[in-house]
Amino acid sequence: MIEKINKLLAEIENLTAENPQQAETLRIKYLGRKGILPNLMNDFRSIPTENKHIAGQHLNKLKSKIQEKISALKETSQNVVVRNDNLDLTRTPYPYRIGTRHPVSIVKKEICDIFARLGYSIAEGPEIEDDRHVFSALNFAEDHPARDMQDTFFISHGQDLLLRTHTSSVQARVMEKTQPPIRIICPGRVYRNEAISYRAHCFFHQVEALYVDKDVSFADLKQTLLFFSQEMFGKDTRIRLRPSFFPFTEPSAEMDISCNLCSGKGCPFCKYTGWVEILGCGMVDPNVLENCGVDSSIYSGFALGMGIERITNLKYQVKDLRLFSQNDVRFLRQFESA
Ligand code: DAH
Repeated sequence: MIEKINKLLAEIENLTAENPQQAETLRIKYLGRKGILPNLMNDFRSIPTENKHIAGQHLNKLKSKIQEKISALKETSQNVVVRNDNLDLTRTPYPYRIGTRHPVSIVKKEICDIFARLGYSIAEGPEIEDDRHVFSALNFAEDHPARDMQDTFFISHGQDLLLRTHTSSVQARVMEKTQPPIRIICPGRVYRNEAISYRAHCFFHQVEALYVDKDVSFADLKQTLLFFSQEMFGKDTRIRLRPSFFPFTEPSAEMDISCNLCSGKGCPFCKYTGWVEILGCGMVDPNVLENCGVDSSIYSGFALGMGIERITNLKYQVKDLRLFSQNDVRFLRQFESA
């Protein structure tokens, strides 16, 4: 009997189960009512009394070994992944769906590419800014309403930290560090304390362009604007400039393009005017050049700034600005081929 038990002990050591069902089958085989262990218990009754003590010890050992082993098998077989030997782990998952670029990124790139063809290079600046770069270097008066709490997110009082309200701050940063000729295009995110609705958001994106050199004139600005507009919206696009005011440019203008939905004939989108406003621009105010260490008696320049969401709306007619920041894949997938 002891010999039999020792054989069983060795056998149990090597038991395996690939899943909980196999472990259960083993349990029935060894511990079930008509299983190997109860059979041995029966045999035990008929062995001579003098051998019972030692045989009993072996039998108990066998019983606890079997129980241990089976519960271990039940546990581990649950985590065993059934391997299919034909599985090719290097295969591309199917269906393979590549992501889409965000419409704001698509249009940002398009704008930057057009200016790159005119020799502009990309410049970026921080979104967390100080008063100097967002306002004072750009000739904003102390009491200008844009500094007001209603427009600007101040990060902390006393400390001079705020979220930039426009990418014109990058102009100031670049001019402080670089002498002309300067030809930069500055894309980035800006923040304003606005109530969120379908037509306003507390953050959006702008692109700023700056050209400073000797003899830069308003004619250069106008030609650059015409080139940009026709590259962006098509060869038949017309532009018009309306006088305006910005603290950092003098003279300043706002630019409209002929409505690209009705080709200028008049429609609800352009409120039947045939024109839509797309950007602000002007000749860099000499005060701004001087504030940033550029000699205004030698150099002049122009600047322009536009909202990327606005241009995106013109291209794709997105009616609700909130869609740009909700990241709803049903919206984003519509730009799959762009
Ligand atoms: N910074 C202006 C804004 O946020 C946009 C702008 C207007 C930029 C005129 C310019 C400019 O460079 O010349 O509304």
